[in-house]
Amino acid sequence: MKSDRLLDDIKSRLDIIEVISDYVELKKSGQNYKANCPFHSEKSPSFMVSPAKQIFHCFGCGAGGDIFGFIMKYENLNFQEAIKMLAKKAGIKLSEYRFEADISEKKEKLYAIQKEALNIYVENLRKSKTAGSYLAKRGITGEMIEAFSLGYADKEWKSIYEHLKAKGFDEPLIAQSGLVFSGEKGLYDMFRNRLIFPIFNVQGDAMAFGGRAIDDSMPKYLNSPETPLFKKGETLYALNVAKDEIRKKDYVMIAEGYLDVIMCHQHGFKNVVAPLGTALTAGHLHKLGRFTKKVLLVFDSDTAGIAAAKRSIALLFEHGFKSKVLLLPEGDDPDSFLRQNGSKAFQGRLSKSKSMVDFILGLKGDKTDNVRTAVGIVASTKDLILREELFRELSEKSGIREPVLRGESKGYGQEPRHSIAAAASKATTFFYSEDILLLSAIVSFPDKAPYIFDNLNMDSVRNPLVKKIFQEIKPSADKVSMTEMLSVLGEEEKALVTRLSLSPGFDLEDIDKSIKGCLRKIAHYEIEEKIKEAKSTGDRQRLRSLLAEKQKITRAV
Ligand code: UTP
Ligand code: MN
Repeated sequence: MKSDRLLDDIKSRLDIIEVISDYVELKKSGQNYKANCPFHSEKSPSFMVSPAKQIFHCFGCGAGGDIFGFIMKYENLNFQEAIKMLAKKAGIKLSEYRFEADISEKKEKLYAIQKEALNIYVENLRKSKTAGSYLAKRGITGEMIEAFSLGYADKEWKSIYEHLKAKGFDEPLIAQSGLVFSGEKGLYDMFRNRLIFPIFNVQGDAMAFGGRAIDDSMPKYLNSPETPLFKKGETLYALNVAKDEIRKKDYVMIAEGYLDVIMCHQHGFKNVVAPLGTALTAGHLHKLGRFTKKVLLVFDSDTAGIAAAKRSIALLFEHGFKSKVLLLPEGDDPDSFLRQNGSKAFQGRLSKSKSMVDFILGLKGDKTDNVRTAVGIVASTKDLILREELFRELSEKSGIREPVLRGESKGYGQEPRHSIAAAASKATTFFYSEDILLLSAIVSFPDKAPYIFDNLNMDSVRNPLVKKIFQEIKPSADKVSMTEMLSVLGEEEKALVTRLSLSPGFDLEDIDKSIKGCLRKIAHYEIEEKIKEAKSTGDRQRLRSLLAEKQKITRAV
């Protein structure tokens, strides 16, 4: 069990309504609050928050949990990170709880190191003529320098290293910061005489840096290596700056480089991010998914750019994203295009961006191959409705009949797992079996748990989800709580628990009677089953004792 006391302390200081209101506009509805669910798209609200129970639950998509669950989902954090964030919000010092203290302390220190370096780089830039004239040459405004906290690493070999030493950080930790490399005579600064692009996490903490050479040294760009703070495959440059605009516009533009992103922002296109010199990964999409499910890929139309767009687009559809492509004239990237042609011309290109189908069908080469490529992408699309639309569009534009395309698609992968239709039917056909009612009783009255577990034969619990939950909480039945349940259970189990918390499914007034009724019924089912078995095998003696047992159960409660 994670530190219970810490979780309880955080919860006692933070109200779920306040926490969620920072992200979602909640409207009062009876005892609860409701909103359009932030975790799936919907037109009428099925996302409920209960101040009395301090939980949320969406009756549309099933998402549910407490403040920790909400922050994990919304901010895309793991449990520990969510605890950290909420503890901070609640004004609670984690070190007092020794909660995974070593790991979080180390990360904390590594963040402190990045922050020190950031300050130095930013300060350097103010003083450096070389860096200043490079920025002027590239047409970057002071406003952008500030918005992106651009910096400059001077020409010295050890200035960051010495500074960190002087600040009292120990050598092994500095070595892990990604800011230095190990040479013959110890540690040297990683970045020298480079324009610095700090890389922030979504919360706005510097976690790594990119550096562009301002003379002709190689490589042109250098990035921090991966560290405990920095995973390239999960990091998008400028997401911290762009996230609000991405949400507002409900799409994100993905460009290729630092300067492309900055120039787009400078020209008023603020929903732009870039991977860090790597191909787009599922990790990137995971980070993006909570802000939008629509992507506009902005690529150079040389061969490499087109190949990258093709790869990215397949990945996007496979992960439930919709995607279009904006191709720039060959030899141009957004940075050079915007500087030469301005925002109006860019806007013009933007409004002419191509749908996935148009893009694929428009590729050079064999037409049939292109259709097959498109069919492959459509077939991998998980969203059923989107898939329908895509088949229609592909059929119209390729002139090949839909049934033929669908036939062709059978060879590609499986049917989508999470269809909207399946999710919807799951939400409406909810059946309160006795197992579920018992779980519901525990959810509403945790102090009933010991009685229930004492009188319930686990083998007779049919609902696999309920069984899993029971197995998880039974060992500590005497101290079951909502917080504990939500902290140990998986997504699906949590969803059931929060759902029951909001709609228990039975009369809470006479809870003891309801519990006894359920226990009796479950015992009944169990014995009926055994009786059937004994009858079919003709085991008379067993049948007699089972019938006696059945009578006892009927009389007992
Ligand atoms: P480009 O080579 O297209 O550079 O790299 P650019 O963005 O147009 O840069 P300028 O305009 O010449 O300054 C695109 C991205 O690929 C990564 C960087 O993230 C860069 O922004 N890259 C490139 C590297 O990581 N290392 C390199 O040596 C080159
Ligand atoms: Mn460029």
